[in-house]
Amino acid sequence: MKFDELIIIIKRLYRDYVKKHFKRIILSLILSLVVAGSTASTAWLLDPAVKKIFVEQDKTLAWVIPILIILAFSSKGISLYFARINIIIVGNKIAGELQKKIANVMLSSDIETLDNRHSGKYISNIQFDCGSVQNLVSTGVLNLMKDSFSLIALVYLMFYQNWKLASFAIFMMPLAVFFAKNLGKRIGKVQKEAGEMAGDFTSFLSEIFKASRMIRIYQKEKEENKNAGNFIDQLVEKNIKIASVMIRATPVMETLTGFMIAGFIFYSGKLITAGELELNNFFSFLAAMMLAYQPIRSLATINMVAYQGAAAAKRVFEVIDNPIQTKNDEELPNLKIDKCKINFEDVEFHYLNTKDMAIKKINLNIEGGSMTAFVGHSGAGKSTIINLLPRFYDQQKGKIFIDDQDTHKVSLFSLRKNISLVSQDVVLFDNTVKDNIAYADSKATQNDIVNACKFAAADEFIKALPDGYDTFIGENGVRLSGGQKQRISIARAILKKSPIILLDEATSSLDAESEQIVQDAISNLIKNKTTLVIAHRLSTIHNADKIYVLKNGLIIASGTHESLIKNSEDYKSLYQKQLK
Ligand SMILES: Nc1ncnc2c1ncn2[C@@H]1O[C@H](COP(=O)(O)OP(=O)(O)OP(=O)(O)O)[C@@H](O)[C@H]1O
Ligand SMILES: [Mg+2]
Repeated sequence: MKFDELIIIIKRLYRDYVKKHFKRIILSLILSLVVAGSTASTAWLLDPAVKKIFVEQDKTLAWVIPILIILAFSSKGISLYFARINIIIVGNKIAGELQKKIANVMLSSDIETLDNRHSGKYISNIQFDCGSVQNLVSTGVLNLMKDSFSLIALVYLMFYQNWKLASFAIFMMPLAVFFAKNLGKRIGKVQKEAGEMAGDFTSFLSEIFKASRMIRIYQKEKEENKNAGNFIDQLVEKNIKIASVMIRATPVMETLTGFMIAGFIFYSGKLITAGELELNNFFSFLAAMMLAYQPIRSLATINMVAYQGAAAAKRVFEVIDNPIQTKNDEELPNLKIDKCKINFEDVEFHYLNTKDMAIKKINLNIEGGSMTAFVGHSGAGKSTIINLLPRFYDQQKGKIFIDDQDTHKVSLFSLRKNISLVSQDVVLFDNTVKDNIAYADSKATQNDIVNACKFAAADEFIKALPDGYDTFIGENGVRLSGGQKQRISIARAILKKSPIILLDEATSSLDAESEQIVQDAISNLIKNKTTLVIAHRLSTIHNADKIYVLKNGLIIASGTHESLIKNSEDYKSLYQKQLK
């Protein structure tokens, strides 16, 4: 990372996040001034201590000065404590704000953006990168204030005690600054690599959890173990690298200090002999110089913290700057449902990362309250059509109407409110049966939920579960059978009571009896609703009012089962090979 870039990121952090905590920053700034003042006074007090107590043997000052020393140290400690607390609050609030923004991006991004970035990377942004930004604010800002003030006060004291000695000490400082600047750049680079790696690692971890069964049946435990080992080794290596660059400042600083003190003692010996320096000035100067060591060291490493935090902030900004694609459309009118007919007019769509059209010139006329089935070989574009209706994706060409209202010209909220989706891969939360169903309508009463489940032919098996409706079903419903999960997702769709139902039928081979039960549940769900269904079941095909046959993204035939079987060779062969 270049210095210019660092400045841009820091400026933005300040303008958008730090500035609003200005009061706390100012408070910490004032407290930092107190810290600097008390630090310098501890060193200054040695001057009268040596002169009045040791040389002149003043009785009153013999106990006044020790008390003043106690006061100086405690005021330093107390103000440092409050300065830290304040800045820690600011740092954590800023990290929290960034985390909230990332969470919001994760929740409101359009599906296309999410498709193209692994979830693990978002998790790593939230956990890893925001932590580094917090460290930049909490440690970086406070150290910058308190250490530079302390340094200024101590250098002032040094000049006050003896300007010749002070000029000598100052001469050594630019060396340290030059050295630290280069270290900072290196840190930024390693931090960037470490951040990316942490993202990949989180992605990897979430995948091995999801694939736990797959890994065991394909016997990849050893291989995945090795992969995990490699990831961890690389991360360990990066972290060691960051830490070792961080502490590389220490030996250089120590050596520089050694040179300084050696030269200082040599030079001050000469000054004392020449009568230009008194012993009390010497001790006070020495104390100031020793105390200056800590702030110099911390200021020398501050730009490493800055580069580290800025590299992390950059990754976070990249995520939150990506404009949320789905249009903000609060001014648009709400969708008004009447008959609930659906029309597609010359709709064409391709996915972001492919050039080929997934669907081409799609025209659909769907009557309100009817059931329309889509059939076609795998990859023909059936799911794509269904995904366009709730605007998970937006078509590049053509228009989609519900009751003659363009779906792009009504508010997204009202559009999705009217659509239920039962997808092929059931998604359930690690929660109770009841909460999973009530996800469709948080105001639903127990009665509503039970009724929905009765319709979905799920009530009976739910009651037989250990805690009935309050049974926890595990991550994505692992404690349920495939058919039970489907029925819960149908019950959820029933509870939503929306006039449009999208159904991606499961191909999973339920046994004849469960198939019948799920089928009954589905027929209850779609009563008097406009239903679009990707048909795999024979019964669906026979019940459909209209069937569209898709091939390579095009509609090649449509009609009822009877007419298609007579007129379409493609349908006939599909029906015989796939659906039967
Ligand atoms: N998220 C995506 N990104 C890029 N291409 C995609 C994406 N989803 C689907 N496709 C492509 O779009 C085409 C249509 O896919 P679609 O999922 O609509 O098929 P389908 O008819 O539902 O098939 P299936 O019966 O196997 O579910 C396919 O060629 C597929 O490779
Ligand atoms: Mg599909």
